[in-house]
This record gives sequence, structure tokens and C-alpha cells, in this order.
Amino acid sequence: MLTVKSAKIKLLLCCCIALTVILLASRASTFTAWANSSLQPYSGTRKGYAIVMNTWKRYDLLKQSIVHYSSCPGLDSIHIVWSEPDPPSASLSAFLQRAIQSNSKDGRKVKLKFNINKEDSLNNRFKEIKDLETDAVFSIDDDVIFPCSSVEFAFNVWQSAPDTMVGFVPRVHWVDSLHSDNYRYGGWWSVWWMGTYSMVLSKAAFFHKKYFSLYTNEMPASIRDYITKRRNCEDIAMSFLVANATGAPPIWVKGKIFEIGSTGISSLGGHNEKRSECVNRFVAEYGRMPLVSTSVKAVDSRSIWFW
Ligand SMILES: *[C@@H]1O[C@H](CO)[C@@H](O)[C@H](O)[C@H]1NC(C)=O
Repeated sequence: MLTVKSAKIKLLLCCCIALTVILLASRASTFTAWANSSLQPYSGTRKGYAIVMNTWKRYDLLKQSIVHYSSCPGLDSIHIVWSEPDPPSASLSAFLQRAIQSNSKDGRKVKLKFNINKEDSLNNRFKEIKDLETDAVFSIDDDVIFPCSSVEFAFNVWQSAPDTMVGFVPRVHWVDSLHSDNYRYGGWWSVWWMGTYSMVLSKAAFFHKKYFSLYTNEMPASIRDYITKRRNCEDIAMSFLVANATGAPPIWVKGKIFEIGSTGISSLGGHNEKRSECVNRFVAEYGRMPLVSTSVKAVDSRSIWFW
């Protein structure tokens, strides 16, 4: 009896060990594949992307963000959207230039530009950039940091759908159950609850540079005026614009978010009410609801342990 039992236990142990070895081996092979691909210098055959960063009087955050992103291999240039009354100080731009230089490896040269604006408007972040050499724009706020691996992955997703907005922060709209001609805007919890989304916010998203000119020159001026007055919803307007142009939903990509600033306006009360008003206003401007809902989420298959 005892021997039978111990034989069974031994057999079970052997199975466990064998399974562990198999798992470790497969894990190791995916790991080395990942390590190799990340070690390869960025190939110059495909163009990279430009970072367009919105900032406002938070120089520590700006420095931290720039230092981080300048080490990402696919980065071509950084454009800082500057809407403060005073131009950037000499010491700030010297610091940023130095940081970018020391992070540029393999003969790569990341360019740094300030886009200085006289008027303080949220529309500034979508102004056309004359000397933009890449089609891909990574639009980002100064207070959120994504690891370079997440950024490069989102860039890869965007390359397979260059007309689409590809981003890390999903939002959703739905028809009000009480007033069917009224739309509601929902934040993270709504996306989590429903499992669908119809926008990705421009605080962390890739899109084609052509949308800058559409936003500034083709989109009705009444929408831009509304945004300047309200100091809100430029990101919703961009989602409307891209959805109207493509007739397709955006793509949400999985990525690790590190919020380095204090919580922004999205944590204040009544925020979703104001955002709902924007959605309804834009629907009236377009004469229809262009946003398309989806539940697709792009995930890096190398980061999935088992599938
Ligand atoms: C929406 O798309 C249509 C068709 O492409 C276009 O004619 C129209 O100007 C767009 N509307 C806005 C407000 O951009």
C-alpha cells in the first residue's frame, strides 16, 4: 500500500518537474527572442515617430518626460507645445538638449523643437507642424509616462492601421436611456463595466499628422471656439474628427501607465457631465454621431505568458 502510494507521488512529482522544465524552456525562448529584438538598433528603413507633448508650467514633469522618451529607439523628434506667456527659459532648453543628446545612441539624432503659441488654447496641441518628417505623431501629456516598449508596440499597431487613432486611454459614449436623443460620456469605470470604448484620448495616442491640418483647417471653427472657451474636450473633438474621416473605431493598446503628476481635471467632480455636454454639442455640429464602438484591444503577444 505504502509503496503504491509513494510511486504515485513520485510519478506526480516527475510530471510536475517535467511541466516546469517545459514551461521554463518555452519562456526562455520567448524571452531571448524578445531580448534579441530589443537589442537590435532601430533600422533606418522605416521612419519613426514624432512626439508632440503638451505642457503647462510643470518643468519638473516636462524634464522627466523628455529624459525618458528621448531614450525610445523609434523616436525621430520631440515637439513641445508651449502656450505660456513667457518663452521657455534658456536653462530649460539647455537642460533638455543635453538630456536628449546623452540619450541618443547609435548616431541617432533626436531633434527638439518648441512650438510657441501666443494664444493659450487647447487647440494649440493640434496645430500643424511645418517641418514634421514623420507621418506618425505620438501625442502625449507631460504627466504620463509609458515604457519605451509600450510606445514602440503602439507605434507598430498604428503602422498596420495608419488612418486610425491608436492609444492607451479608452473612453466611451452611449445613448442616454431616459432621453434617446442625448448622449453620455463615460470614463475608465464605464469602459471597464461595459468592455467597449469608442474614443482613445490624445493625452497618449498615435495618429497620422494629416489630422493636424484637418483639425485646424477643415473642422468647423465653431468647434475650435467652443473648445477654447470651455478649456476642455479638444481630445473628444479629435476623436470625432478621426471617426468621421474613417468611419471606424480607434484601437486601444495595452500599456503600463506611470502617472507622474498630480491628478488632473479628470478627477474633479462633474467632469463627465461637462464631457457629455461636449459630446452632444459635437453631435449637433456634425449632424450625426460619428463615433464607432468596439471591444477590440491590442496586446503584445510576447507579454502574454500562456496562450
Ligand atoms: C465628415 O466627413 C464627411 C465625409 O468625408 C466630410 O464631407 C465632412 O466635411 C466631415 N465633417 C466634418 C465636420 O469634418
